[in-house]
Amino acid sequence: MAPLRVAGTLRVPGDKSISHRSLILAALADGESRIRGILEADDIQSTAGVLRALGAGIPSLSADMRIAGGGLRGLKAPRQTLDCGNSGTTARLIAGVVAAHPFSTRFEGDSSLSRRPMKRVAEPLTYMGAQFEFDHGDGLPMTVRGVDLRSIDWNTGGSSAQVKSAILLAGLVAAVEVRVTEKTRSRDHTERMLRAMGADVENDRNQVCLRPARRLNPIEMEVPADPSSAAFFIALASLATEGELALTKVGVNPTRTGFLQAMKRMGADINESVPGRRAEESTATFRVRPHELRGIRITEEDIPFLIDEVPLIACVAAGAGIDLEITGAAELRVKESDRINSVVQNLQAVGARAEELPDGLRIWGPRRELSGTIDPHGDHRVAMAFGVLSAASGNRIKILNPECVAVSYPSFWDDLRRVTA
Ligand code: S3P
Repeated sequence: MAPLRVAGTLRVPGDKSISHRSLILAALADGESRIRGILEADDIQSTAGVLRALGAGIPSLSADMRIAGGGLRGLKAPRQTLDCGNSGTTARLIAGVVAAHPFSTRFEGDSSLSRRPMKRVAEPLTYMGAQFEFDHGDGLPMTVRGVDLRSIDWNTGGSSAQVKSAILLAGLVAAVEVRVTEKTRSRDHTERMLRAMGADVENDRNQVCLRPARRLNPIEMEVPADPSSAAFFIALASLATEGELALTKVGVNPTRTGFLQAMKRMGADINESVPGRRAEESTATFRVRPHELRGIRITEEDIPFLIDEVPLIACVAAGAGIDLEITGAAELRVKESDRINSVVQNLQAVGARAEELPDGLRIWGPRRELSGTIDPHGDHRVAMAFGVLSAASGNRIKILNPECVAVSYPSFWDDLRRVTA
C-alpha cells in the first residue's frame, strides 16, 4: 500500500455559523461593524443576498468587511422572494428576524432545502404572534407575516441552534424578553455575539434568556477558522501514514468540540495550543500526527457537539477499519441530505462494512482497501468526508459532483492536494 504523507500548515476558512450571524447582527446594529475572515462560500452568499433584498447595506464578501448597520427595525419589505439556496441557517435565522418586522416575506430554497422542516421555527414564532403559510407540508416555499411579537418561554425539546437563534433574533427585533430551554445546549455563537454587542443575554446550562434591547452596538471581530472544516484535516492527518499537519486559529467554542473529543477517544495524536480569546470566541492551533485508532461508541448526549461531523467520523472509522456505533442521531436524516442513508450507502458502494440504524449507523473492521464511485447527493459534508477517505492510502474513490463543497469550503480540494502533495 502506498504511504500517505501529510505536511504543512493550514488556516481553513472562517466559521460558517459565526459568518452567518456576523452579517445578520451587523445589519441590525447601530453603526459600522468590522468583520475579518468571514467565510466566502455559497451559504454565506445566501445570507448576504437575503439581507440585501431586505434593504441592508451588505457589501461583497471579502477578507475585511465594513458593514453599516441600519438598526433593529431598519429592514425594508423585500420586493422579491428571498432565495436561501442550500442554507438552512439562512432560512431559519432570517425567519426569526422578519417575524418581528411589519411586512410579509416569502422564502424559497434549492431542492434540498425545500425538503427540510421549517415547522420547528414556525411553531415558536407563531406562538409569538407571527403568521406562517406553507405552499405544501412544512418546507419552503413559505411566507412569513411579521407583527409586534410577544414574549415567549419555549422548550424546544431538543437541541437546535437554528431554532434557538430564530427565537432570540425575533425577541431582539421585537424588544421583548425571550427564554429558550433545550435538552442539551446547542452551539451558542448567537448568544456570545449578542453579548459582545451589548445585549443582555444570560446562559444558564441549557437555558438562555434575552432581555429587551433598545439597540445593538456594532462589533469588531475576526471569525475563527471553522472547526467543522478543520475536522476534515484532523481526520486526514490521523489516517495518514507519516508527517504532521498544523491547523491554525481554529474555533474551540466548547459547543463545537465534540469531534475532537471523539478523535481523542479513538486514540488520535492531537496536540492543542493554549487557546487565544477574541470577540467572545476562543481559537487554538492543532498539530496532528498519524496514529493507530480504536473503535468507539457515540450516543445521543454527544450528538449536539459533533452534529455536522458524523459523516466524517463514519469515514474515519471505515478508513481505519475500526468499529463504530452512532445512535441518537435521527436529526441527520433532515440535514442537507439524509446523512445516515447517504453515508452508509456510499460506504457500502466502496466496499466498507456499514449498516443503517433508524437513528444512526454502525461500521466495523477490519480495514480494507476501498474503491468505487460515490454520490454525495449534493451534500458538501458528505463529499468532503469521502474526499478524506479517498486520500487515505490504498483507497481509490471517485466522487461525483465534487463542486458541491462550495457551500461551505470552496477551496477544499486545493487544500487537500496541497497538504498531501
Ligand atoms: C447551525 C446549527 C446546526 C448545524 C448547522 C448550523 C447553526 O443545525 O447542524 O450546520 O449555524 O445554527 P441545527 O440547529 O438544525 O441543529
